[in-house]
Amino acid sequence: MNEKVSAIICAAGKGERAGFNKNKLLAPLYGAPALYHTLKKFSMKEIGEVIVTSSETDFAEISALCKPFGCRVVLGGKTRTESVKNALEAVTGDIVLIHDGARPFVEKEIILNCIDGVKKFGSAVAAVKFTDTAAIAQYGEISDYTDRENTFRVQTPQGFFTEDIKKAYQLAGVQNFTDDGAVYLQYIAPPHIIEGSESNIKLTYKSDFPSEYPQLSPVSGQKIGFGVDTHAFGEGNFITLAGVKIPCGKSLIAHSDGDVIIHAVMDAYLSAAGLKDIGHYFPDTDESTLNADSAKMLEKVIEITENAGYVGVNLSVTVQAETPRLSPYADKMAQRLGEICKLPKENAAIAAGTCEHLGFVGEGLGITAYCAVLLKIKRDK
Ligand code: CTP
Ligand code: MG
Repeated sequence: MNEKVSAIICAAGKGERAGFNKNKLLAPLYGAPALYHTLKKFSMKEIGEVIVTSSETDFAEISALCKPFGCRVVLGGKTRTESVKNALEAVTGDIVLIHDGARPFVEKEIILNCIDGVKKFGSAVAAVKFTDTAAIAQYGEISDYTDRENTFRVQTPQGFFTEDIKKAYQLAGVQNFTDDGAVYLQYIAPPHIIEGSESNIKLTYKSDFPSEYPQLSPVSGQKIGFGVDTHAFGEGNFITLAGVKIPCGKSLIAHSDGDVIIHAVMDAYLSAAGLKDIGHYFPDTDESTLNADSAKMLEKVIEITENAGYVGVNLSVTVQAETPRLSPYADKMAQRLGEICKLPKENAAIAAGTCEHLGFVGEGLGITAYCAVLLKIKRDK
């Protein structure tokens, strides 16, 4: 059976211990409200609906944050138990995962394991084993030690069949519980444990908010490349840029047709694929490239990079010329460049500008083009 999975994200607290003078979940973490990161983690195809609890005070702000994710916002209660109880009324899925908005570091793998755990065992509560010795203490004195092997720190997400956990919360009445597993234990069955993680901490105090951005995970399977080309003006009456003939009282001096944009694009592609530059593939001592159509050369470069295992994702060109005015041709050039590179037009952007009369371009001596390109590894490599 393909059960629908819902998620409840608890965000209706005050976050008092964190001392931000507002809900800690709206305090910034890596440049966005902490809750944003939690919502992002739950935005996955395996989860059919996300319901977020909010206090009345934060309702507008949390609703705005939830809108792009398509989450529903419901009013929470005075305690987390009350908040979850309210949210459960809105759940339409067969399985529900309940998660603290204050745990933005949860790994997607734990969320998926939680869903699987419910399917296999009827419930799944993320927890980690104690590594320190766990003791029971009262009035500053240890009265007993617990068996570390059997002692866990319980986290969220905690997943259940909706019917079961709803029933448990109904039976719980107005009692307060620390978490959902505790309600389930009391009224339904012992909840099953799945492995949580050390990084899945609950933001509780200000010091739990890391100030440093996490190291970016290396971009796998994608490479960028950059290319530049310049040609000087000579006698003539048109220039060719991005494969488009543009009327001009001059031409561009070159061994080929002098299409600076295409030459920059070719170098960017070759560079991204870790190959040698165009001079290697099309030396200007080669008679066959004399007055050559650069579009044909670019087609060849695309083939070379494809054979090296890469396909283009997008490219971005900036071309600088004092004359002629290029902006009227920008659209046509992007269209043509997209065709040659087998990219949609919006992924082959061209910006044109002048150099404000500065430098050789500004003095009208020639044209320079810059190109950045992103390639990804072909799956069938
Ligand atoms: N929560 C909730 N409704 C409440 C209280 C808490 O939905 N009435 C949520 C919090 O927003 C948080 C999670 O439950 O994501 C865990 O609670 P806790 O870490 O205690 O957060 P706060 O109650 O907001 O913080 P504090 O206790 O420091 O005020
Ligand atoms: Mg609290």
